Formats: sequence, structure tokens, C-alpha cells
Amino acid sequence: MSEQYPRFRSILDQFAGYKPGKPPTPAGGRTFKLSSNESPYDPLPSVRAVLADAASQINRYPDNGAAELTDAIASRFGVPAEHVAVGCGSVGVAQQLLEAVGEPGAEVIYAWRSFEAYPYLTELANATSVQVPLLSYGHDLSAMAAAITERTRLIFVCTPNNPTGTPVGHRDLAEFLDVVPADCLAVIDEAYVQYVRDPAVADGLSLYVDRPNVAVLRTFSKAYGLAGLRVGFLIGHPPVAQAVRKTMLPFTVNSLAQAAAVASLAAESELLERVELVVKERDRVRGELLDDGWTVPPTEANFVWLPLADRSAHFADHCDAAGVSVRPYAPDGVRVTIADAEANDAFLAAAARYSHRA
Ligand SMILES: Cc1ncc(COP(=O)(O)O)c(C=O)c1O
Repeated sequence: MSEQYPRFRSILDQFAGYKPGKPPTPAGGRTFKLSSNESPYDPLPSVRAVLADAASQINRYPDNGAAELTDAIASRFGVPAEHVAVGCGSVGVAQQLLEAVGEPGAEVIYAWRSFEAYPYLTELANATSVQVPLLSYGHDLSAMAAAITERTRLIFVCTPNNPTGTPVGHRDLAEFLDVVPADCLAVIDEAYVQYVRDPAVADGLSLYVDRPNVAVLRTFSKAYGLAGLRVGFLIGHPPVAQAVRKTMLPFTVNSLAQAAAVASLAAESELLERVELVVKERDRVRGELLDDGWTVPPTEANFVWLPLADRSAHFADHCDAAGVSVRPYAPDGVRVTIADAEANDAFLAAAARYSHRA
């Protein structure tokens, strides 16, 4: 056999690929996965029924234009269908956007630490990341504005921010968007928007309407509980939505995913009742952690952030030994997804036994 292997892009030598949240290590009793910000609830019966029906037609390609889903999203959010584009999860839409702007020399600005797919997808799209450090766990919008150059092609604003849970205020974001050049795309990533309760938090849908260079990214993975099916979407002005459609891998949103997403919009009020339970649990978990002496920044998402710095990996291992997988982001902190009360109690019990918190 020859020693020679195919040559790949040198960029691939620099990273190992996206690292998903780890499943819990089997521990004898029940284990809990709190490492991927998923919904803890089983699919709704109405969604399962639609999936069973759609499964009988999987010998056919899906609708490449996802017309029914696009119309359902447009009517739910009160926007024209030409403003909607779908993808394989919102991470797929983010990739489509980066494909649309990425070329050597193009710069992509985002806060850091934030969603870990941003650097990975930016480099893959041949663009250059410009990371702006968080300020008090949130976006430093003045520093992000100062980082804009004529090479800036795309800016991600993640609100609430993954992994810290810190949202961006509406007025602050409006002021920031007003200084983003018209030829640079600003993407408001609202993956966790359904968990927001503070009325002062940015509302992407009202900010994009009068701004042709602003788009909103949403997902069916979190509040709608379809993480395993992979559906996300963008709402933006027609040229932006069209760029996302052009860069889509053909048939990328499969027929089961399209059907389940339509059914989930129809069952939204039931799903939002579940979101409400998670929000109540979030406030309980954060309150108990604060009472127990932990530092936990306010969060508007379905997770809490523990800024444990160099103890992050140690704490994650400690939780794992208790059957609870959490997500360490060394050297910054640990993100813990909020789930049902039993899972949250298992996490709180593990946290209470951790003796190295300070
Ligand atoms: C901020 C943010 N954006 C986008 C995504 C991608 O979600 P999906 O691709 O499942 O829609 C995630 C997932 O964790 C996220 O945290």
C-alpha cells in the first residue's frame, strides 16, 4: 500500500470538527444529559402521528422548496414567504449564510465566547473570525462596532448568548445595528428566544423589518423539541433569504423534518406550556445555586452558566460521576441545560456535593 494519502485543505489540520455535548456516562441508576440544551420532553402525540404518516412516503424526495413549511413559518410570524429560508438546523442556515459571504479576506465578527459553531463554520467558509471578548458575560456591542472594517461581511449576535445565557437589550441592539454598514449582514441568532421573559430583551423580528441587512435565525431544535430532525430557518429580506436558498444543499430539510415542523407550529401553544415549565425550573435552579454560594449570571435561556474558569473540566467530571453530563468550556466555565425537575435535582445534588467551587 502506498504511504501517500489525499491532500486536504490545510484548515482541516487546525480543528477536529464540531464537538457535541457528551451523553452521560452510565452510572448504575438514572442518568441525565444536560449538555446540549435539548428539550427534556418526548415528542407530542400529534407530532408523532404526522411523522408516522410522513414515514410512509420516504421513497420520494422531500419538497426542495419546503413550500408548506415556509408558508407556515411566514404566517406564524406575519412575514411574507419570500422572507423565509430553511436549512438543516439553524447551524445549517448559518453555514449557508457563511457560504454566501465567505471568501479569502472576508471577516466575520462575533462575541466570544459564544456558539462554538461560529468559528468552525467561518473558517470552513474561507473567511476570517474576528472574536470580540464578552463583557460581564454579554456582548460588548461598542467593541464589536469598533471591530467593523471594510472587510466585515457578516456579524453574528447571539441573544440570549450560548453558553452564558446573557441576552442583548433591544435598544442597545437597535443602536448597534444602525452603525453596521449596509453591505454587511447582521444575523441575530435567536435559538433560545422562546425562553426569554425579560421584556427589554432584543426582538429580532421587529429589528429586521426596516433593515435590509439584518436577518433573524431561529430553530425548531430547542423549544419545539425537534433537535433530532434538524430544521432551522432564517427570516430576512428577499435577497438574504434567496442567498440562503442558493447555498442550500439540495433536499437538505428532509420530509419528516418538514412535516414535524409544520405540526409543531400547529401545536405551538402546547409546546410553549412546556417551555414555561423549563423557565420556572431555570429560575428555581439558579435561585438554589445562588443560595448555595455559586456565581450564576442571570440567564434568559434554557441553561445556566457557571464561570468556573480552570475548574470547569473538574466540575464536569464530578457531575459526570454522579450521572449528569454538563458542558465544560475550559478555561471559561460550564453550561448546564435546564430540564425536568428530576434531572435538575440530580444536578443540584451533584453541585451541592462539589467542594472546590471557590
Ligand atoms: C446559539 C445557537 N444557534 C444555533 C444553534 C443550532 O441549532 P440547530 O442547528 O439545532 O438548529 C444552537 C444549538 O445549540 C445554538 O446554541
